[in-house]
Amino acid sequence: MKILITGSKGQLGRELNRLFERDGANGAEVVFTDVDELDITDRGAVDAFLRAGDFSHVVNCAAYTAVDRAEEDKALCYSVNTDGPGNLARLADELGFRLIHISTDYVFDGTAHRPLTESDKPSPLSVYGTTKRRGETALLGLAPESIIIRTAGLYSAFGSNFIKTMIRFALQGRPQVQVVYDQIGAPTSAIDLAMAIRTILFSNKWKGGIYHYSNEGVCSWYDVAREVFDALPDSVPAPELLPILSSEFPAAASRPLYGVLDHSRIRATYGLRIPHWRHSLRRDFPEIFNSIKSSASL
Ligand SMILES: NC(=O)c1ccc[n+]([C@@H]2O[C@H](COP(=O)([O-])OP(=O)(O)OC[C@H]3O[C@@H](n4cnc5c(N)ncnc54)[C@H](OP(=O)(O)O)[C@@H]3O)[C@@H](O)[C@H]2O)c1
Repeated sequence: MKILITGSKGQLGRELNRLFERDGANGAEVVFTDVDELDITDRGAVDAFLRAGDFSHVVNCAAYTAVDRAEEDKALCYSVNTDGPGNLARLADELGFRLIHISTDYVFDGTAHRPLTESDKPSPLSVYGTTKRRGETALLGLAPESIIIRTAGLYSAFGSNFIKTMIRFALQGRPQVQVVYDQIGAPTSAIDLAMAIRTILFSNKWKGGIYHYSNEGVCSWYDVAREVFDALPDSVPAPELLPILSSEFPAAASRPLYGVLDHSRIRATYGLRIPHWRHSLRRDFPEIFNSIKSSASL
């Protein structure tokens, strides 16, 4: 078994790297690349790298994830989120490697009132969501046996994310922070998602198609911010937390108001036990907090 992880310097890629270092790779060789070593939008480079590599599995963690910037930066976003997965999928079929690709709850429009299943109809609201959906369809068209995992609200001690922003606000001594309470879903620890991907890679069962994975439970971003502020040490005063509506917080990209994912399929297929978001956040909080505290600038 020889596994390629693309986009390996992002949140998920770094967690996969750490997980393979900690738990081993069951004898598999694992190769980590980011854009400097392998730009997934460069069809020729992808072609040469994968033909020479003799990989049995590719996990594509590479993506353009700046949701608001994407509204202006459409061409690059399309290239990374749609063309890139297409470049990998085209070869997956020909060279016979298995492909895991990561997608998002932002492929939905947020009008549902019950957890979203893999067969619910996507209808993205933003450039980012549209490019991710097109990446999914490219993948399913070119390499139908691929696995697509849609996740939501990913966070880790690496990169930037909502949890880190809230901690930073507290460390900066902000008196008040406004957070939306009408965007409902569940955040996802990149540690938990990395473990789920490892389980899929090393299970003897490969069942292609779309799967939904976020942490269990349901909450708003306001609830997540509350949890972050409640976890702060006594030495760091928590800002006053003010609930606001999305309409009061103008952003370049529209976000779905409801993105709760139904995990039945991934649980049943791969026997996963998915932790509750609050449990994972409490577990991950000290490392995330320390990573910010020890960084040079807030
Ligand atoms: N973050 C979230 O809240 C969230 C939510 C739902 C789904 N997802 C999905 O989950 C996956 C992992 O997200 P993440 O948060 O780990 O993303 P991330 O932290 O933004 O990491 C993505 C990585 O891909 C690299 N990259 C960008 N363009 C590339 C290219 N052309 N070729 C190769 N690598 C490239 C990035 O490098 P640079 O930093 O230099 O650009 C970065 O290291 C993505 O598919 C994302 O769409 C994320």
